[in-house]
Amino acid sequence: GLPARVRIHEVGARDGLQNEKSTVPTEVKAEFVRRLADAGLTTIEATSFVHPKWVPQLADAERLFPLVSDLPVALPVLVPNERGLDRALALGARRIAVFASATESFAKANLNRTVDEALAMFAPVVGRAKAEGAHVRGYLSMCFGDPWEGAVPIPQVTKVCRALLDMGCDELSLGDTIGVATPGHVRALLTELDVPVDRLGVHFHDTYGQALANTYAALQHGVTTVDASAGGLGGCPYAKSATGNLATEDLVWMLRGLGIDTGVDLGRLVATSTWMAGHLGRPSPSRTVRALSHE
Ligand code: HMG
Ligand code: MG
Repeated sequence: GLPARVRIHEVGARDGLQNEKSTVPTEVKAEFVRRLADAGLTTIEATSFVHPKWVPQLADAERLFPLVSDLPVALPVLVPNERGLDRALALGARRIAVFASATESFAKANLNRTVDEALAMFAPVVGRAKAEGAHVRGYLSMCFGDPWEGAVPIPQVTKVCRALLDMGCDELSLGDTIGVATPGHVRALLTELDVPVDRLGVHFHDTYGQALANTYAALQHGVTTVDASAGGLGGCPYAKSATGNLATEDLVWMLRGLGIDTGVDLGRLVATSTWMAGHLGRPSPSRTVRALSHE
């Protein structure tokens, strides 16, 4: 059967905005995060404390975080290394995420490290964050396919998952960074993974239009944490073929139809994405946003 409730891990302000050509003003980002909270989202990834030259769109993390940190929601931030952790902890962040890769090519492109060097970089970050009482998410990118290496063998994925859990990550997010997964592949990976489902999230990009079908396969497997991006914003600057994430509105529409509770007010969320699309100067790619805003 399907779960009664799903927790949406909203990534629009991070995964979405990191890939926009234009840099959105800090005040607009803060308003975006506030409106997402107001729409009922309870986990809102706010920004990344990465090198500002690698992701210039999020170089304002120090100014943004204090503008939203009073919100009564979880505000995870991405942190690649100890320098990033210092920056996040100095602002009072209580939830961090490290981001590993299942493939060597993407580890190099995204982190300038081999897979093992990246894990060695994360270990002290996770250790220190846990000692400070912070919650740690471990992302794993390229779980299904990689733009340089093609299909990714499942044992390669389970090995890095194990390493992330062993270093102390509370939760994992399985990333289909370039959106090539299909439901059969999702089922196969979840069946192979020896990780309790309450510690797993899924992170689908919608490049091939499979994100909702993949989510449904994950729900059938018992997964209750689903990453999504308001309005379908997103991509990844270091993986050219990646398009936007699964749109939060499309996810909420499907879950509502299935009688699965998310606590999200769809009308408010659509209004937020429509407002954000105005700032970005282009319509939201989400089918649900388009359908509901033309009603
Ligand atoms: P590097 O060039 O190897 O850095 O980059 P380094 O460790 O050699 O340090 C070089 C300089 O950068 C030093 O300064 C450091 O202090 C500074 P210098 O001594 O030369 O003056 N530095 C920093 N400054 C500020 N904040 C920091 C920081 N770290 C070093 N945190 C590094 C290595 C990891 C830093 C770089 O590759 C990086 O920032 N990468 C981030 C890439 C990124 O954010 N990608 C997008 C997120 S992942 C994603 O989107 C996928 C996901 O959505 C899931 C999915 O879809 O699959 C999560
Ligand atoms: Mg992503």
